[in-house]
Amino acid sequence: MRVLVTGGLGYIGSHTCCCLLDAGYEVVVVDNLVNSKIEVVDKIKTITGKDFTFYQEDVCDEKALDKIFEKEKVDAVIHFAAYKAVGESVSMPIKYYENNLGSTLKLCKVMKKHGCSKFVFSSSATVYGSPKTLPIREDFPLSTTNPYGSTKLMNEQILKDVVIANPEFSVVILRYFNPIGSHESGLIGEDPNGIPNNLMPYIVRVANKQLEILSVYGDDYDTEDGTGVRDYIHVVDLAKGHLKALEKANKDEGIFYYNLGTGTGYSVLNLVETFKRVNNVDVPYKIVGRRAGDIAACYADPTKAFEELGWKAEKGIEEMCRDSYNYILKQMEK
Ligand code: NAD
Ligand code: WQD
Repeated sequence: MRVLVTGGLGYIGSHTCCCLLDAGYEVVVVDNLVNSKIEVVDKIKTITGKDFTFYQEDVCDEKALDKIFEKEKVDAVIHFAAYKAVGESVSMPIKYYENNLGSTLKLCKVMKKHGCSKFVFSSSATVYGSPKTLPIREDFPLSTTNPYGSTKLMNEQILKDVVIANPEFSVVILRYFNPIGSHESGLIGEDPNGIPNNLMPYIVRVANKQLEILSVYGDDYDTEDGTGVRDYIHVVDLAKGHLKALEKANKDEGIFYYNLGTGTGYSVLNLVETFKRVNNVDVPYKIVGRRAGDIAACYADPTKAFEELGWKAEKGIEEMCRDSYNYILKQMEK
């Protein structure tokens, strides 16, 4: 089976390409390198010992997509390509709507033309807004608080309408919780440009002294220690979920929604303490005010993914902390 992976050189996409190649899938990657590096192509090949085809193209470019589909005869699409910085989406909403919606629209159009009807989409726990109860199930009400989140929710709506109009389509929507960690080789991982927005990349930079001190955004939430609680999931577990989603898309027509999380929440201070212990490093921090738009706690009920896909997260928080740091240490060796 030949799978087109958009955004396949990015953080989650590159790990998923490794899992796909390991499992014997043929892989075609389309990425415009807007948030990734060309070296990742060779790193994926080194990790897997397998070859794949790479196109440096924009997924919003319908003509380029059409040519790729004509040549490659792909059976399914996994669509990772998107912009993902929440803060930037508030100041540059048009950029976000254009890329995150335009890419899906063009893909669906070209897929239909070429008779490709299996689609796995990267959604996010952000579509649950501020949940009233926890853990979060897939049938909870949906809402968003920023343009990035709105692009995910609108994509879900677009795909629902595509399936209604095209009953032969199979769409699997995966709502990721908070991916961290990296491949055990230390060759691929998350290394954002500039000052990181997300917690784990920030912790890593403080640990290796590229940044001085971590600001913990609030210790007055209604949580165990007052700091925010999230469902951190190892990126390799997350990547494996995409193979299960492909199997589902191959088996059943319609649209299906799954939470990909561990089901366990950890506070900011839990994560910092675990990181320090397993990596034997210091991570100085200070408590500052809450970050606008943050919620107190967010973790998944991952039961549906287990029952219907046979997927569950296997790696624990210690492995996530170790692998996140290992990647950066390997990068620094270069
Ligand atoms: P990433 O930025 O590392 O990867 C995205 C990749 O897509 C990059 O390689 C980028 O160059 C590419 N890209 C972006 N726009 C493109 C376009 N128009 N044409 C071609 N390539 C394009 O992000 P990630 O963390 O791997 O996230 C992957 C997906 O998962 C995204 O859709 C993101 O919104 C979603 N998601 C991520 C998280 C997270 O915390 N990382 C959580 C929930 C959902
Ligand atoms: C986690 C916790 C912060 C940084 C975001 C997006 C979401 C999804 C994943 C794509 C919170 C605290 C953070 C820092 C801190 N992305 N924190 N100091 O906000 O749960 O989710 O990324 O879909 O849409 O909103 O993740 O890693 O930013 O924050 O104290 O420097 O760490 O307040 O409690 P978040 P995060």
